[in-house]
Amino acid sequence: MSSDQKRPFLRSRAWFDNADNPDMTALYLERYLNFGLSQEELQSGKPIIGIAQTGSDLSPCNRHHIELAKRVREGIREAGGIAIEFPVHPIQETGKRPTASLDRNLAYLSLVEVLYGYPLDGVVLTIGCDKTTPALLMAAATVNIPAIALSVGPMLNGWFRGERTGSGTIVWKAREMMAAGEIDYEGFVRLVASSAPSTGYCNTMGTATTMNSLAEALGMQLPGSAAIPAPYRDRQEVAWRTGLRIVDMVHEDLKPSDVMTREAFLNAIRVNSAIGGSTNAPIHLTAIARHLGVELSIDDWQTHGETVPLLVNLQPAGEYLGEDYYHAGGVPAVVNQLMSAGLIHEDAKTVNGKTIGENCGTAAIADEKVIRPFDNPLRENAGFRVLKGNLFGSAIMKLSVISDEFRERYLSNPDDPMAFEGRAIVFDGPEDYHARIDDPAMDIDENSVLFMRGAGPIGYPGAAEVVNMRAPDYLIKRGVTSLPCVGDGRQSGTSGSPSILNASPEAAANGGLAILKTGDRVRIDLNKCTADMLLPEDELDRRRTELEKAGGYAYPAHQTPWQEIQRGMVAQLDAGMVLEPAVNYQ
Ligand code: FES
Ligand code: MG
Repeated sequence: MSSDQKRPFLRSRAWFDNADNPDMTALYLERYLNFGLSQEELQSGKPIIGIAQTGSDLSPCNRHHIELAKRVREGIREAGGIAIEFPVHPIQETGKRPTASLDRNLAYLSLVEVLYGYPLDGVVLTIGCDKTTPALLMAAATVNIPAIALSVGPMLNGWFRGERTGSGTIVWKAREMMAAGEIDYEGFVRLVASSAPSTGYCNTMGTATTMNSLAEALGMQLPGSAAIPAPYRDRQEVAWRTGLRIVDMVHEDLKPSDVMTREAFLNAIRVNSAIGGSTNAPIHLTAIARHLGVELSIDDWQTHGETVPLLVNLQPAGEYLGEDYYHAGGVPAVVNQLMSAGLIHEDAKTVNGKTIGENCGTAAIADEKVIRPFDNPLRENAGFRVLKGNLFGSAIMKLSVISDEFRERYLSNPDDPMAFEGRAIVFDGPEDYHARIDDPAMDIDENSVLFMRGAGPIGYPGAAEVVNMRAPDYLIKRGVTSLPCVGDGRQSGTSGSPSILNASPEAAANGGLAILKTGDRVRIDLNKCTADMLLPEDELDRRRTELEKAGGYAYPAHQTPWQEIQRGMVAQLDAGMVLEPAVNYQ
């Protein structure tokens, strides 16, 4: 298709070439000419392609996109388009206080305004660090103009004394080493920093690698591109190809709603299990689906994902890191294995115009230590189980990360093999937990179940990654290293703890956790998928009335205007933590 042919559907023409409104056309033109573009170019009928730039000095994980955008521009120009790069509100997972997830919806909202309100015919979404990927895909879903994602790629592998050190995951180990006196503070910092040897996002299977893999599984990135490490030359090449491709996508009018169908989401759920993906994935995929109007429920994760085996051997569930994942074949090799088991909707269309089946049909595994064949997995049943009861409407648990110690201690009663009961220990937010966890007066023992509430989208605005709590030091000294943890917050994708997470509705929305008290008996049954306070109905009613009289569960004051605005309209984690009114705009 020749690109200089004028096409009526190019929305940028309403700005730059509108014969019905010469005044405004002139105004729009003169200002976009002022940095050197010509009238000839802007009225040529060439697609105007936005590059939504998430890299900046504040966002080190995505900073390499500043370099990659140069190659994207070359691709766009070569394919007959005009590139216009613009900044996206920064979201740096490790740098933003109180939590980066507060900003996912803010970046979403501002990007929707940019995509809707400016003369853009298509957009390249520069994704990478945890929340940047969902924020940009959510905005593309709402505005639904042709869009293609470009991952910045993971960092190179980290190394320390001949061993791989992975982002985030190394911190847990370094803490133990410092506590044992094997390293001092300086050694601690050096060990942690060794995991970040180059530009790029976290090299473990945390939320970043998860969401970038799922963006490819959804069909929104060029096949094979998600796993390419940031500094590799292949990354520069795929940036150029992404630029080339978006121009054709505009001519073909290939939109996010054509790619991200329910089938594509089910593919992503299965890929998430196979890669050992983050427990943050259900939140973000639900959000993207809701902005598209695609039906996707929290139950779909158990129905379609739970029994899929773990194939990818990356930290924290396994041994390897991002470079190894790429060399072993990346997402296409994983999809190919799932295809062989009939677990992929092969007709789902992707941004290159082909189906996922066509893209991945011949993708072989190059290193079976890193990506295992379907019939020889690392673990069976690598997805999530969805629990329900009087404690919450729903919460998820990643069964595949249950340790032998945990299984032995809590799940080995022959009469009741997948269930346990315990005494609830309740913390209100991370500060309360840190202040009291080691206090002997709490009387925590191996029959305790730790609860974290006040950590959901409203309670701790944006929802904190704090549910995986360590046991008190006096128990650790006795060899009890992990207690069951339940909460209305999230858990870092780099943590391998078997927690019950994302409980919805949260305490701050007056869910069941709000009336739980320390000392209550609770029962978790992983077979029946239930989680309950063992209290008579009239006691539950009495507590609910009490809570209502007290004006509901109390949470800390807002610190910024955005915290207050978001708290007023945010959905619960099982509903994607989206801004509820925004779902109406499709
Ligand atoms: Fe940015 Fe992990 S902190 S990707
Ligand atoms: Mg995180």
